[in-house]
Amino acid sequence: MPSRLPFSLAFLVTVAAILTITTVEASSVHIYPGRHHKTINPTATATPVDALCKQTGYPSLCASSIGPVLSLARSVSPADLTTSNIQATIVKTIQARSLATNLINSHRGSKIYKANINVCLENYDATLDSLRDSIKTIRSNGSHDDLMINLSAALTGITTCDDAFMETPGMASPLAQVNSVLGMSAKNCLALANMTR
Ligand SMILES: *[C@@H]1O[C@H](CO)[C@@H](O)[C@H](O)[C@H]1NC(C)=O
Ligand SMILES: *[C@@H]1O[C@H](CO)[C@@H](O)[C@H](O)[C@H]1NC(C)=O
Repeated sequence: MPSRLPFSLAFLVTVAAILTITTVEASSVHIYPGRHHKTINPTATATPVDALCKQTGYPSLCASSIGPVLSLARSVSPADLTTSNIQATIVKTIQARSLATNLINSHRGSKIYKANINVCLENYDATLDSLRDSIKTIRSNGSHDDLMINLSAALTGITTCDDAFMETPGMASPLAQVNSVLGMSAKNCLALANMTR
C-alpha cells in the first residue's frame, strides 16, 4: 500500500476542496480580513463581488456593471448585486432604445426594416417596464417568483427584437450587437436573482 495517494485521486481531492472553498465563500460572501497574514490563495483575495459574479454566465460583465464603491465593498448581498446589475441593464436598454429611435428617424431602410425596428422599440419599452418592476419587487421584499417572472419577461423583450429580424432573411439586425450584450446582462440578472431565493 503506497503511503501517498495516487496522483489522480490527490488531484480530485484538491479539486473537490477548491470547489468546496469557492462554493462556501461565494454563498456566504465571506471576506478574509487579511490583516494578520498574507495569502496567495486566489479565492481568499477575491472580492465579494467577484465571488458572486463568478457564478453568473458573464462574470466580467457582472462585475463591470457596478460602481467602484460597491465593487470594493467588504460585503455585498446577492440582492444588492442583482439590483445594481438590473440598473446597469436598464441603462443599456435605454441606450439601445435611443439607437433604435435614431434608426427609425433616419430615412434609410425599407418599410419592413422600419417595422422590425418598431418591434424592437416596443419590446425595449416592455423590457424597461419589467426591469423597473423587478427593482420594485426587490425593494418591497416581494416574492422571488415575481422577481423571476419580471426578469424573464425583460429577457424575452430582447429576444423578440432579435426574432423580428430573424424572420426576415437577408436583413441583418443593426441591433444585433447591442442586443447580444443586453441579453448577457439580463441573463446575469436572472442568475443573480436566483441566488436571492
Ligand atoms: C412583474 O411581475 C408582476 C408579478 O408577477 C406582474 O404583475 C407585473 O405585470 C410584471 N410586470 C411586467 C412589466 O412584466
Ligand atoms: C421579507 O419577506 C419574508 C417572507 O416573505 C420575511 O420572512 C422577511 O422578514 C421580510 N423581510 C423584510 C425586511 O420585510
